[in-house]
Order: sequence, then C-alpha cells, then structure tokens
Amino acid sequence: MSSAGPPQPEPELLAAFRDAGQEHVFAFWSELDEARRAELARQAGTVDLALVTRLFREADAGRLANPEIAPFPVIGADDAGRGRARAAGQDALGRGVVGFVTVAGGQATRLGFGPPKGARAVGPVSGKSLFRWHAEKVQATSLRYGHAIPWAIMTSDANDRATEELFEAEGWFGLEGQVRFVRQQMLPAMDGTGRIVLQDAGRIAMSPNGHGGVIDALGRGGALDWFAERGVEYLSYFQVDNPLVNPADPVFLGFQVERESEMSAKVVRKRDPLEKAGVVVLLGGRPGVLEYTELPEELARSEDSDGHLRFGWANIAAHVFTRTFLERMQGWALPWHAARKSVPGIDQEGRAVHVPALKFETFIFDAIPEARNFLALETSREEEFAPLKNAEGENSPVTVRAAILARTRRWYSTLGLRAPEDPDLLEIGPLEAYDLETFAEYVGRVAGGGQE
Ligand code: UD1
Repeated sequence: MSSAGPPQPEPELLAAFRDAGQEHVFAFWSELDEARRAELARQAGTVDLALVTRLFREADAGRLANPEIAPFPVIGADDAGRGRARAAGQDALGRGVVGFVTVAGGQATRLGFGPPKGARAVGPVSGKSLFRWHAEKVQATSLRYGHAIPWAIMTSDANDRATEELFEAEGWFGLEGQVRFVRQQMLPAMDGTGRIVLQDAGRIAMSPNGHGGVIDALGRGGALDWFAERGVEYLSYFQVDNPLVNPADPVFLGFQVERESEMSAKVVRKRDPLEKAGVVVLLGGRPGVLEYTELPEELARSEDSDGHLRFGWANIAAHVFTRTFLERMQGWALPWHAARKSVPGIDQEGRAVHVPALKFETFIFDAIPEARNFLALETSREEEFAPLKNAEGENSPVTVRAAILARTRRWYSTLGLRAPEDPDLLEIGPLEAYDLETFAEYVGRVAGGGQE
C-alpha cells in the first residue's frame, strides 16, 4: 500500500458524492485507466444528486390520493366540425407555421435491438427504417405545402451518437438543415437502499428521463428558438416507434387552431379493456392521461349505455402543442414516475449482477392538465397506430408489417381499386402517400402517366 493512497477523483466531486452517501460510485477508480476515469467523472458530474435523493425518498410516497376518474368528451371520428377543421389545418400547413417533433431517446429494451429503434426496418418490401419512413413524411408534407418543415428529434446519451451517424450516413434523408437533434437528460438507477447502481466499474447505470424530458430538451437545446425563427407556432409531436402516424393531419391541427388549444392528443378505441395503453380521462375534473397500470380493472372493464368502454380512449402519443405552451412550461417540473426494473450492474465486489432497481421518468402527457383548452380527437387505429415495441407477439415487427400492408390494401379498396395480390408489389412509401387523401392523389398521378 502506498502511503499516498489510491488515486482519487476531483475533491469536489468526491465530496458531493460522499455527502450524498454515494461514494461507492468511485470504488473502482484505482482500477480504471485515464480514459475511463475521465468518462466516469464526466458522467458523475451530470448527476443531480439532490434530485435523485429526493426521488428515491418519494418513490413510495404514493400517487395522488385516488382522484375521481370520469370519462373525457372526445371529438369523435364523425364530428360535424371536421370539414371546417380540415380547412383550418390546411391553412396552417400552407402558412408554414407547423413543425414536427419526434421522441427517439428511449432505450428500446423490450425490442432487444442494439442500434437506435429508429434504425429498425419497417418498409415491408424496401426495408426502409423507421427514421426513413418518418423522414419521407417530412419530405412529402414539405413538398405538398411548399415549406421546408423543421423537424426536431430527441435522442439521449443512450443513442445520440448512433442516431446522428445514421442520419449522416443516409445523407440526412435529403433533409439537411431541416433536422435538429436535441438531447434529453439521463438519471441514475437506484437500488433498493437508495444507492446509485454501477453498470460496470467505470460507469453509472443511467437511463433517459422519460419522454417528458422533451420539454426541457427542446428549450435547453435551442430548438424552441430555432422553431420560432422559422415561424413555427404549432409542434406536431410523435413517437419514433409508430410508422403509421400522420404528423401533418390537417383535421387534428385544425381543431387545435380553431379551439385555441395549447395541447391536444389523438386517441383510438381500446382494442380490449386491458390493452396496455394509457387512457384520456378526467382526473378530479381535469383532463389527463391515466396509465393502464393505474386504472383499476373494474373501471377498465366498465361500459357506457352504448356498450363502449367508459374509459376506452387509448392515448397513441400523438400530440400537437403550441410553441408558446412549451415555452411557458420551461422550468416547470412534471411529476416523476418510478419504475421498478431489473438493471444489469455490478455488486460491491465488482461481480456482474442484475440489480432490482428504481428508474425515474417524466411523461409528456402529464403536461395535459396545465394546457388551456386541451382536446382529444378520435382517429382510427388501422390508419394511425401500429407501434413497434416488442421483438415478438403484440406490437412487434410482424404486426407492424401486417398493419402497413393492410392499410395500403384498404386505401385501394376505399377508392374502388384492386390492390396487387403480391405483397411484394404492395408497399407504398410515405413519399408516395401517407394517408388516404395523398394516396388518391398518387393514384391520380400514376394514372395520368406518372407525372408529378
Ligand atoms: C407509451 C405511453 C402509453 C401510450 C403508448 C403508445 C408511457 C408511460 N406510456 O407507452 O400511454 O399508449 O406509448 O404507443 O409513455 N422515449 C424517449 N425518451 C425516454 C423514454 C421514451 O424519447 O426517456 C420515447 C421512445 O423512444 C418511444 C416513446 O418515447 O418513441 C415511447 O416510449 P415507451 O417507453 O415505448 O412507451 P410505452 O410504455 O410503450
């Protein structure tokens, strides 16, 4: 043993971790080379120790004491105002006041896919990735409405480098200058005693702070100013995992404009009472989303006089925000949710173990009660919702592929046309068509001799 003792991290950093009872984070410091020490110190420097200490303390404090749950009046698929809303939405798109936001910072653990989820192939024949699929919608809507629609994409430490490299390798999908990345913050996982989990000797087990982190990421990352400079007033938000979503739906945008809503949500009827989707409801008289885990089964199964589920409007995580709402929400603390998950880590002796841990996240839909004139619009699941979540079974590559092909078949039959029998001839990419209306135009162009 040398009398100088083992090398130590910066005294201030060490003192902060010691004071918080988290000194063990540097337990293996003497075994790390320079590069790994620098990386651990960088990572440790990003940890808000006061916040994680509080979150751990409050994790079991319980949620709001059972607020009264009531159905929320959703704008139905046959609402008489749709025509007028469509015109208002088309006007907004034509004025260039709409921008897009995609959240793609998740770790995609359920999918078990190494690269960012957006790199996953979804084109049924072409194998186009989720990012390309969405990028084609950005291109198509930009062309259609005559404005380069700005697109912000949220990534996290878990995947930002790989995502940016992918965009570069793909020539930015033809959208250079139109895309901006913002990065969400990360938080350490904590074990059952409140100790920060080490992933390995030189790394803290960090995970992204939930899609609610997008509010802060857009503000801190300069994207809200970037949108403002481009004249954007409305932000159409969607998750990278849903290839069917239409971010340029004029009806949805139009209702938002007409009702002067600060935030809105698209919903579909639940497939079955216990589908794992949050539902739009009134909570203590205010609109919000209740996660399926928080909806008692008896209520989840209850029906109204028409035989529909009383709490059956599933949130598909497609929202529109006004830019000014997101500006107003800067610095506002969304409530935290603690999830119990098994995290790969090491124990005090440095052995690889699975640690039962707490992870902390905020959810974007918790902003709903703060928004003026929140509205929810019904859309059709078959048209707009086929998320890629799992490697197999429900919401997996197989079901997503089937949903994309079924939608194209339906577009053909709605127009009284016969769809190609051969699935290999059935793929229509978003650049050709991303909804029934653009499909009808595409068919018209093709029939007219392929002229644009
Ligand atoms: C989410 C919603 C659920 C909704 C469903 C629709 C929650 C808690 N629930 O479920 O109400 O019905 O989507 O598909 O959100 N993401 C980030 N950063 C993060 C975490 C997630 O960018 O820190 C992104 C992911 O990349 C993904 C999206 O958010 O695009 C959804 O995340 P995920 O964890 O898959 O949500 P779900 O629990 O499936």
